[in-house]
Amino acid sequence: MWKNIWDKKGLNISNNLTLSDLISIDGFDSSGKEVLNENAWIEYINYIGDVIDIKNKNSILEIACGSGAFLKVLKSIVSDNTKLYGFDYSNNLINIAKTVIDDCNLCCDEAINIDILFNTCFDFIFCNSAFHYFNDKEYTYSVIKKSYNILSKGGSLAFLDINDQSKMDTYYKVRFAEIGEEEYKRKYEGLNQLFFTKEELFNLLVSLGFRKIIIEDQHISGYTNNQYRFNIFAVNKI
Ligand SMILES: C[S@@+](CC[C@H](N)C(=O)[O-])C[C@H]1O[C@@H](n2cnc3c(N)ncnc32)[C@H](O)[C@@H]1O
Repeated sequence: MWKNIWDKKGLNISNNLTLSDLISIDGFDSSGKEVLNENAWIEYINYIGDVIDIKNKNSILEIACGSGAFLKVLKSIVSDNTKLYGFDYSNNLINIAKTVIDDCNLCCDEAINIDILFNTCFDFIFCNSAFHYFNDKEYTYSVIKKSYNILSKGGSLAFLDINDQSKMDTYYKVRFAEIGEEEYKRKYEGLNQLFFTKEELFNLLVSLGFRKIIIEDQHISGYTNNQYRFNIFAVNKI
């Protein structure tokens, strides 16, 4: 069901898209409030780059990259010879990404197929703000395990902007209060979001063999969803 929504995004889009347009197309205006500010977005991506030492990564893959809002900024901070890859199940969004980012390997596919798409290994694999749209938890765990399988030795994973299960009740209370519970349920019928505990993802990454795992609450300047989201990094595959 979410796929129907994302498939329709990016239709009838004009040329000369700004970063702000990409941020909006990728859904960071869905609270109905302002689009996330470009500077806050750039600052966030630079911060992620610092955490995982991005300058030393030669090949980077974004899972569910949308129209390329994240990859476009990432491209400006990595080394010139770093190879960038991305994929998303929305054909429209991938087509937009192809027009706004040069020299990036992009394709349209489901996250579950991550390990058969590019026939190479990566130094850094990440996914920003997409786990909550995945089919179910088993699907998500498989994507994480397959990411690990195609990660180079010494490589890192980052799963960002994940719905925090401990904040789920508050999230729905606030959303219901905005438009009323009945209206919310009518509008989002069949569009469930997944929520994860920090512990379940930590335990999965530990079981894969990572020794250094960083978990933090989301902190993008001016982002309404900060209060419900967290980031998890698994650094240096052994
Ligand atoms: C909020 S957008 C984030 C886009 C991008 N990661 C960013 O940070 O700008 C979520 C994206 O997840 C993609 N997506 C959701 N479920 C997916 C799946 N199972 N396989 C591939 N892409 C998926 C959607 O098409 C959408 O582009």
